[in-house]
Amino acid sequence: MNAIEIAGLCKQFKGKRMAKVDALKGLDLQIEAGEVFGFLGPNGAGKSTTIKLVMGLLQPTSGSASIMGIQSTETGARRSVGYLPENPAFYDYLSAEEYIAFVGSQFRMEAALLKRRSEDVLKRLELWEARKRPMRSYSKGMVQRVGLAQTLVHDPAVYILDEPMSGLDPIGRALVKDIILDLKKRGKCVFFSTHITDDVEKVCDRVGVIVKGSLVAVDRVENIMRSGVEGYLVHLRLPETENRSFAGLEPLRRVGSTSEFYVSCGSFNAFMGQVNASGVEVLLVETKRRDLEDFFLSLVNQA
Ligand SMILES: Nc1ncnc2c1ncn2[C@@H]1O[C@H](COP(=O)(O)OP(=O)(O)OP(=O)(O)O)[C@@H](O)[C@H]1O
Ligand SMILES: [Mg+2]
Repeated sequence: MNAIEIAGLCKQFKGKRMAKVDALKGLDLQIEAGEVFGFLGPNGAGKSTTIKLVMGLLQPTSGSASIMGIQSTETGARRSVGYLPENPAFYDYLSAEEYIAFVGSQFRMEAALLKRRSEDVLKRLELWEARKRPMRSYSKGMVQRVGLAQTLVHDPAVYILDEPMSGLDPIGRALVKDIILDLKKRGKCVFFSTHITDDVEKVCDRVGVIVKGSLVAVDRVENIMRSGVEGYLVHLRLPETENRSFAGLEPLRRVGSTSEFYVSCGSFNAFMGQVNASGVEVLLVETKRRDLEDFFLSLVNQA
């Protein structure tokens, strides 16, 4: 069974003066249990709309979504989910500790377990010191971390996170990536949205790119990275006085006794063959790749 199933999901909003906005145009997506899936798209692409539909917070115009085999329109679908909304806002007169206790009680957690888990997640998200202060005194990053803490407390199988790294500093972002990697190790499913490619590169198994309400690509991160190799930067040891070419290629740059050659994928074998035959020492071969950011931008520009 897939952790999340989305089939032909469409959402049309009525805008001003009854103008229609097609926020989602027939989305199909399956996310397996134990998978970390990054949902990447520019502002207004339809990420939050998709997430709200999966969570049953919006009614689809057509199509359907389910979580762990239960239709999103049913309350039971939300039992196995930790959900972080975009721009989370909480009852700010409560402290983080009180709020976490409230969330745990909604999931009917047994008191001793809730106390233990609450301590774990507050410490993990570096909120332990501030746990008794009302949340109105928290910084934006702290509120975001409370948002993540409340997804973890009941230890669900599925995590649906709308921009979990938003509003966090580099240390906070690294912490969230670590938490996602931990969840992955424990076989949990994480579906999270972002518009920052760096966030998905290190933690995701697969990435889906959504542009203007349509999914334009879904692939494993390593396939995207592999298909993005454009050439190699080869560093050779050559005396400063020696200006040599191999396979017709001149050096791009010379620094002391090192010459750097840019070699496209197609000429790599011929180039290395001539270098080896001449006995010149190879110091370094760097792969020059189109990164995820370029891949993402090219898809957004094509759409
Ligand atoms: N309640 C609404 N009424 C009318 N239009 C809406 C509503 N909610 C979303 N939209 C429109 O649907 C489209 C998708 O919005 P959505 O919030 O899903 O984008 P997003 O990918 O989450 O963007 P962001 O990265 O800025 O959070 C946008 O054009 C938005 O203006
Ligand atoms: Mg959004």
